[in-house]
Order: sequence, then C-alpha cells, then structure tokens
Amino acid sequence: MLTGLRIVVSAGPTFEDIDPVRFLGNRSSGKMGFAIAAAAVHRGAQVVLVAGPVTLPTPPALQRIDVRSAEQMHAAVIAALPADIYVGAAAVADFTPARVAEGKIKKQADGNAGLTLQLVRTRDILAEVAGHPQRPRLVVGFAAETDNVEGYARGKLERKKLDLICANRVGLAGSGFESDDNELAVYGAGFERTLEPAPKAELAEALLDVIGERLAALPGHSTDTDRT
Ligand code: PMT
Repeated sequence: MLTGLRIVVSAGPTFEDIDPVRFLGNRSSGKMGFAIAAAAVHRGAQVVLVAGPVTLPTPPALQRIDVRSAEQMHAAVIAALPADIYVGAAAVADFTPARVAEGKIKKQADGNAGLTLQLVRTRDILAEVAGHPQRPRLVVGFAAETDNVEGYARGKLERKKLDLICANRVGLAGSGFESDDNELAVYGAGFERTLEPAPKAELAEALLDVIGERLAALPGHSTDTDRT
C-alpha cells in the first residue's frame, strides 16, 4: 500500500509555442503517467497529476493540474512539493523557442527562404526536484531511448541524482510513446528490474510494487506505520 503518501506524477508532452498557431511538441499521449497516477490512487496515495496537453479523462480521486509548456510544468511540479515520491513520466521539451512571435510568422516574399528558429534550453524539472530542499524521499525518472538504452538511462540516473530510472525503448510499435502497452527496465544504484511487456495499467502496478519495495529499503524508513 501507499496509504497516506503524497505522490506527484508528471505525464504527457509539453508544447512549446512558436507563434499563435504553431508549437514544438512530441508524441507522448500521457497514457503511462496517467496509469501510474490511477494505480497510486488505488493504493491509497494522495496523488497530484501534472498533465501536459493530452486528451485523456481524469482518473478519479486525484488532483489534476493541466499545463502546456515545460515552464508551466516546472512551476506546477515545484509548487506541488513537498511530496513523498515524484515520478517524472512526462516527455518534457529540452528546448523552447527563445521568444514567441506575437503574430503568425509569414513566409518570405520570395517563397523559398528557410526559417531559422532560435531555441534555448528548458529547466530540467526532474533534476531540480532531486536537488530541491524539499526533495521527495524517492525521485523516479523515465528515459525514452532509441539505442544504448541502459547506458543512457544509467547516465541520467547519476547525472540527475535519481533513486530510480525507468527506461523504455521508443520508436518501436508496442512500447513507448502513444502505445497502450510498454515494457520497462528499472535501474537504481545496485538495482535492476525488468518489467515485462504489458498494458500500461499493469505495468504501472508493477512499477508501484518496485517503488514500494525501494521506499521500504531506504535507510531510516519507519516500519511501524505500514505506509508502504
Ligand atoms: O505518454 P505515453 O504516450 O504513454 O508515452 C510514455 C513515455 C514514452 C512518454 C514515458 O514512458 C517516458 O519515457 N517518459 C519520459 C520521456 C522523456 O522525455 O525522456 P527523456 O529521456 O527525454 O527525459 C528524461 C527524464 O527527465 C524524464 O523523466 C523527463 O520527465 C525528465 N525531464 C526531461 C527534460 C526536462 N526539461 N525536464 C525533465 O523533468
């Protein structure tokens, strides 16, 4: 059980506006993050779901905060602290346009000129949560990779100072973005667990089992409250 624990989950993509009609986005549907949030509610957690622009219905009995951009997601996640657990399942843009054009960007008169967009880095929400004075006891990231999945995932685990990272391969049918199913490899310091291919709702349950297990293994974890 996760009874009484406060869990913040991010889900979905972010959209980074270029002008009033165009944006930079990605293929995240929010299904993975929404499944984790719903499963945590079933286990008795108090859940805050910070959702990028998705078309999914809100699971019952949680607080949903809708955002659009990486900057808005950053503000909503940080404002939701303190929490016991943070799960960053959102696909947050790494870059955003340096400025949003006030009017619709028009083609040049000669019709063939290209367009150069200047992009700047967004803030890394996950790394900031992991380094926050009100750091959750468990900070769980995701890594969406097309190749060298374990290497890149473990790199993020260390660089962002996470407790766990859930790696999924993307670019294949039946896992990752948009799909109803997924498979995850979960890595931590001296820890590795494979969660076999399954519908995202089932995978969310398996991931919460791992999270409960890792929480219970933390030094100083109280065993008398039965909160995990
Ligand atoms: O939404 P679905 O269609 O169900 O698809 C699920 C998923 C593939 C989106 C999900 O399983 C997943 O892998 N989410 C993370 C995708 C991603 O952006 O990975 P990344 O390797 O670029 O980022 C690594 C981690 O840093 C992620 O936890 C991300 O939330 C976080 N991050 C990244 C950039 C940033 N500016 N802030 C962040 O917090």
